[in-house]
Amino acid sequence: MKFSNAAIILLILVSGITVSEAAVVPETLSEQSKQCLDCHKIQTPVIVQQWGASKHFRANVACYECHQAQAGEPDAFEHNSFTIATIVSPRDCARCHAQEVNEFEKSHHAKAARILGSADNRLAEVVEGNRGFVTPGFPKGVSAAAVNGCWQCHGSEVKVLENGKLDTATWPNTGIGRINPDGSEGSCSACHSRHQFSVEQARNPENCGKCHMGPDHPQIEIYEESKHGIAFHANKQKMNLDNEKWVVGEDYNAAPTCATCHMSATRTQPVTHDVGMRISWNNRPAISIRPEIADANMGLPGKDVDWKTRRKNMTDVCLNCHSDGFVESFYVQYDGLIELYHEKFAKPGQALMDLAKPLLKPVPFGNKIDFIWFEIWHHEGRRARHGASMMGPDYTHWHGTYEVAKNFYSEFIPELEELAEKNLNSSDPAKATAAKALQVKLDEVLNSNDHKWFIDKMDPEEAAQRKKEVEDFQRRYQPES
Ligand code: HEC
Ligand code: HEC
Ligand code: HEC
Ligand code: HEC
Ligand code: HEC
Ligand code: HEC
Ligand code: HEC
Ligand code: HEC
Repeated sequence: MKFSNAAIILLILVSGITVSEAAVVPETLSEQSKQCLDCHKIQTPVIVQQWGASKHFRANVACYECHQAQAGEPDAFEHNSFTIATIVSPRDCARCHAQEVNEFEKSHHAKAARILGSADNRLAEVVEGNRGFVTPGFPKGVSAAAVNGCWQCHGSEVKVLENGKLDTATWPNTGIGRINPDGSEGSCSACHSRHQFSVEQARNPENCGKCHMGPDHPQIEIYEESKHGIAFHANKQKMNLDNEKWVVGEDYNAAPTCATCHMSATRTQPVTHDVGMRISWNNRPAISIRPEIADANMGLPGKDVDWKTRRKNMTDVCLNCHSDGFVESFYVQYDGLIELYHEKFAKPGQALMDLAKPLLKPVPFGNKIDFIWFEIWHHEGRRARHGASMMGPDYTHWHGTYEVAKNFYSEFIPELEELAEKNLNSSDPAKATAAKALQVKLDEVLNSNDHKWFIDKMDPEEAAQRKKEVEDFQRRYQPES
């Protein structure tokens, strides 16, 4: 291949895209790629058409430039006298897009396949699943629920068989934290669908919605119901989603998309492929933690970027469309909801669960209460927090705090009371002691200011005030007599 530096510099100037190792971008279509195209025009015409509509086509980056491999690489195979690999990993993209790959590799996205051993993973492998799905890579079997569920969002660990073929349990898969045969983590095509690799598509909210949806993290649903989603759909054609440069307040102004707030450029910030750099809470655990703690837990360099810096980064996005005071007050409202959920439900709930442990079957998810508590924090408690963080009041309330409260009072507390009662007079002294401790904590929680209404011990002054409010309400809504 021959390279023309002038042509490459021109390309970079025109595109505004920084291609790190410009020298690997060929000046003309390579001889190898011409041969791939000859066959694949017939074999897989749509792949060639999609590539033909891509920016890569314009830059002569074709089949061979991405799929080429060195003999000896774990997933390299001989294909019509070329050595290629089917998987194009972030390491392959890094030959030309080093910065994006570098940022992505530092993010939680790249680590999303490290979920093995988590509570939810036990669900897929044991509770929902079995070992009935047998492939050459998994002679003892693997759970089809994990393969078709978790792994498609989080990523599989791709296994290469002796003939260079990819094990069918582990591929096709574009989970965001996929562990690739070359040891790299992640999959760029989780967001950049092949073979057009269009940024326009990546900037669309639906793109994130493949994974960020459902009962435990309904970000796409929240967005759709928020003023931001409404403004996006009303003005989609004015969003210039296909512009090379896409700076809020310069190239578009109608609405923010997921990318706008979490990734895209502002007048003062470049695009980032580390989606953690603008969030000040990690709302995934039962009790929210700061993102620098979550990063430290995973050994990520983000451990040195505190939540205040990240909140400033996000605020910088908002301030293109909103005033200072408005955004500050939004964060006060959001923090207030986190505090409410923590103090009223998550902390006492966690403490009660810890005290209940010695009285339960030791098998995780072997007890009804395991499911009750899991749904309170993992589904409903997250929905409340996620709804508040992204301006979706219905998710905060009816799908969120309402469900938390309903299940706390009508499922969780009664189940714990029964557990304590059943064991108070146990012949096993350890159990009797544990039951006593649980009972004491239950009394403490239920007699606390947050919960005493439930045992009809509301403060008389507050009760009187509330009674008056009810009477006023009824008067307002009754026809004049
Ligand atoms: C002589 C025709 C021919 C040429 C040349 C050719 N291919 Fe293919 N390719 C095929 C056919 C047929 C298949 C489907 C059957 C198969 O998997 O081998 C295929 C399959 C593939 C696959 C999918 C393999 C899998 O595991 O699913 C990839 C990736 C691929 N080709 C890339 C390339 C690249 C890159 C080049 C150029 C370096 C190329 N091909 C050149 C005919 C060709
Ligand atoms: C910009 C890099 C890039 C270019 C250029 C490219 N590919 Fe791919 N290709 C990928 C990625 C990424 C995947 C997804 C594989 C994975 O799971 O990592 C893929 C997957 C494939 C597959 C298997 C998946 C499927 O849907 O069947 C085939 C076949 C394939 N490419 C053929 C081609 C051919 C033919 C060309 C040239 C017209 C081409 N590719 C050009 C990056 C590229
Ligand atoms: C051989 C170098 C090379 C490789 C390898 C490569 N790219 Fe590119 N890519 C380019 C160049 C050059 C451009 C800019 C083209 C232009 O703007 O005209 C580009 C542009 C892009 C864009 C912007 C597209 C748009 O619509 O603006 C995306 C996204 C992208 N590449 C993703 C990837 C991914 C993901 C991989 C790996 C699967 C990859 N690239 C592999 C050279 C490469
Ligand atoms: C629809 C895609 C999807 C499926 C299916 C899915 N997840 Fe997730 N998972 C996500 C997303 C998105 C997040 C991050 C949510 C957030 O940030 O609010 C997540 C978060 C998690 C976390 C928390 C990680 C952390 O950093 O605290 C664990 C653990 C987890 N998932 C495990 C699983 C397991 C195990 C399964 C299968 C039983 C599964 N997930 C199924 C998309 C999915
Ligand atoms: C979470 C989704 C997501 C993942 C994963 C992702 N990208 Fe992107 N990428 C985007 C979005 C959104 C944009 C558009 C940013 C903008 O301009 O507003 C983008 C833009 C790009 C661009 C255009 C130049 C730029 O920085 O704006 C390149 C090149 C690119 N990505 C490469 C990659 C590579 C390589 C990977 C894998 C390491 C990757 N991306 C993974 C969402 C993603
Ligand atoms: C293929 C699935 C998938 C897609 C697509 C996806 N994500 Fe994620 N995302 C995840 C998973 C899984 C996690 C949780 C990772 C973990 O902590 O283990 C996550 C975590 C996050 C986080 C939390 C990061 C942190 O540091 O705590 C943000 C923010 C995020 N995603 C935003 C986005 C945006 C914006 C898009 C679209 C441009 C997107 N994601 C597309 C799966 C996905
Ligand atoms: C108007 C800006 C904005 C838009 C649009 C937006 N978000 Fe967010 N997002 C936020 C803010 C603010 C937070 C909370 C940040 C914090 O904790 O400080 C957040 C938090 C998150 C988190 C972290 C959740 C966790 O468990 O910790 C994820 C994941 C996420 N958003 C994904 C998305 C996705 C996917 C979309 C589109 C469907 C989207 N966001 C749209 C502003 C936005
Ligand atoms: C591209 C412009 C844009 C960006 C960026 C943006 N917003 Fe908005 N926001 C809007 C529009 C438009 C509305 C609807 C205004 C109306 O109701 O008339 C809105 C409404 C809101 C509302 C009111 C919601 C309601 O239901 O009344 C809040 C709160 C809000 N935004 C917070 C934020 C925060 C926080 C950020 C940054 C994380 C942000 N916005 C980023 C355009 C933007």
